[in-house]
Amino acid sequence: MKPVVISGSGVFTPEHIISNEALVASFNQYVDLFNAEHSEAISAGTVTALDYSSCEFIEKASGIKARHVLYPEGITDPYVMQPIVRRRGEDEMPEMVEMALKAATVALAQAGRTPSEVDLIICAASNIQRPYPALAIELQQALGAQGYAFDMNVACSSATFGISNAVNAIRGGTARCVLVVNPEFASPQVDYTNRDSHFIFGDVCTATVIEAEEDTRSAQAWRILGMKLKTEFSNNIRCDVSYLEHCFPDIDEKVPFFRQQGRKVFKELLPLVSDHIASLLDELAVPAAELKRLWLHQANINMNQFAARKILDREVLAEEAPLVLDRYANTASAGSIIAFSQYQQGLEVGDKALLCSFGAGYSVGCLVLERCR
Ligand code: COA
Repeated sequence: MKPVVISGSGVFTPEHIISNEALVASFNQYVDLFNAEHSEAISAGTVTALDYSSCEFIEKASGIKARHVLYPEGITDPYVMQPIVRRRGEDEMPEMVEMALKAATVALAQAGRTPSEVDLIICAASNIQRPYPALAIELQQALGAQGYAFDMNVACSSATFGISNAVNAIRGGTARCVLVVNPEFASPQVDYTNRDSHFIFGDVCTATVIEAEEDTRSAQAWRILGMKLKTEFSNNIRCDVSYLEHCFPDIDEKVPFFRQQGRKVFKELLPLVSDHIASLLDELAVPAAELKRLWLHQANINMNQFAARKILDREVLAEEAPLVLDRYANTASAGSIIAFSQYQQGLEVGDKALLCSFGAGYSVGCLVLERCR
């Protein structure tokens, strides 16, 4: 099969940062307001009093210290507790396309490609801002790219599944230069009044350029030695918002939000991930000991440390499995691509590495890479 490479990558990081301290302060103010407002019902036992959140818990349980968001206003206002977003008109670019344009520009420059050389754009993300026309087609127009474009969603594995679609398009002959963008505008899916999940997500966009190795002009490229995708249905990470929403007679105000059974996810997903990686390495006859870097999904520090130890079967140094979730929080499918894009230092031609996402679905997307330039 024709060797295919990732020849460029880019990250767009929103400028606004919300620290755990700021998030917890507003959450705790909200708790005080809620409990005061419902004091009689709480005393009568008909409403449960809310508990404070804590920075110590968040950092220890998840590894998250801060997150970047597009719209901080509202998130840290105890009277609002959600991002305040102005509805954009048809003549304005949606946020996800705007983010993608910025990340794409960096990735294309790194690949040494002009936008007009791109003949397929895949917009792969956990939330797609509108059903149609596809965001990818608007990005295609904004960039001046050729060919065709489409959106896709496999939640936290959208990026790796998107890259795999790109590889298949190149091998199948339907595209030569593919741009995969992952605009994870995740902050609006968070229920900021829920202590279990108010800290989890941040916004970011990543982009990768995929092309045949024989075509690449990039100074630094990663050959895709193999890839393996897996899905297995689970309700443990879920979001139900739908275009049907306005038709339902019973309006559930919690519906638009991300929700999860974090402990169950931990227990069920980790074995799935480690078995999946082991079987891909086996198929490729690449011993785990040859992996010089693990760019893993960025949802939880404890999960990543566990997975890294399991893959390499030894204690793993921080630089071998770089974490970005302390600064970015969980950025859904973009997490492992941020790590890939920002932590390639020290890797030489011939070195092998692993790129792996896991999350809702459940879904696991795994690629074994070898630096070839
Ligand atoms: N501040 C203080 N305490 C909190 C809290 C907060 N913000 N949120 C929850 N707690 C409390 C809980 O109420 C619970 O109290 P209890 O023991 O009295 O019942 C305790 O802390 C432990 O809660 P738990 O939910 O069991 O914590 P955890 O160690 O499982 O960590 C997650 C929670 C969400 C960080 C963790 O489960 C996780 O990240 N799971 C994997 C998620 C994942 O990969 N998802 C993929 C999405 S893409």
